[in-house]
Amino acid sequence: MNLILLGPPGAGKGTQAKRLESAHGVVQLSTGDMLRAAVASGSALGQQAKKVMEAGQLMPDDIIIRMIEARIGEPDAKRGFVLDGFPRTEAQAVALDEMLGRHGRSLLAVIELGVDEAALIERISGRFTCAKCGAGYHDKFQRPQREGVCDKCGGTEFVRRKDDNAETLRARLEAYRAQTAPIIPYYRNRGLLQRVDGMAAPDDVTRQIEAILASA
Ligand code: AP5
Repeated sequence: MNLILLGPPGAGKGTQAKRLESAHGVVQLSTGDMLRAAVASGSALGQQAKKVMEAGQLMPDDIIIRMIEARIGEPDAKRGFVLDGFPRTEAQAVALDEMLGRHGRSLLAVIELGVDEAALIERISGRFTCAKCGAGYHDKFQRPQREGVCDKCGGTEFVRRKDDNAETLRARLEAYRAQTAPIIPYYRNRGLLQRVDGMAAPDDVTRQIEAILASA
């Protein structure tokens, strides 16, 4: 089962990709997470990614395409994957098709999370994650059960992303509208696109996605 989750920043791609990972044994391939790992490592790629991400712009296609192709070839991705944050441009969508062909794989569906842009600022500005295990939380929608303690690993340190502020979010949304939204027809024309209501509660969004997978 190979899927793409598509949607603007804060639409819930990461939230739903993690749920699909646990429910279906597939692997979440998040280009954002890969770039954040590169930033944390201090590599040359990480230094470039830090500047680009903090400006809310997109990394060059060739770098991202190479990163995904290498990742898709790893053993854990053989069981299936959920692409979260890739493809983000037409060049990336075309390159994905070519690499899937080379690996003898195909897409089951492209699921677009439809959201109201006004809600995204609240979602993004309230988001934080456990510094130890990466579990995701939100100031309003998903607080840890015990204040200040991660539900999953018991960690007590939490972090917020540097690009999760109103100014960078405006640039990220602009990049989505200009460079990513235009790939939606690419998938619609091939009968792969399915839209879910990303404004619904997270469990409801999961149910909508599961219904699509059950009938795909
Ligand atoms: P990336 O990390 O991919 O960020 P993004 O696309 O901006 O998406 P987010 O991770 O912000 O949001 P999400 O949709 O995963 O939402 P989440 O589930 O966390 O990319 C970061 C940067 O890396 C880019 O700006 C770019 O510079 C670079 N980059 C990455 N990929 C690239 C590529 N392919 N090409 C070029 N550059 C690339 O949810 C958000 C919050 O809302 C959470 O707190 C969550 O708890 C809450 N929430 C989720 N669902 C719901 C719901 N249904 N109701 C209420 N709250 C909800």
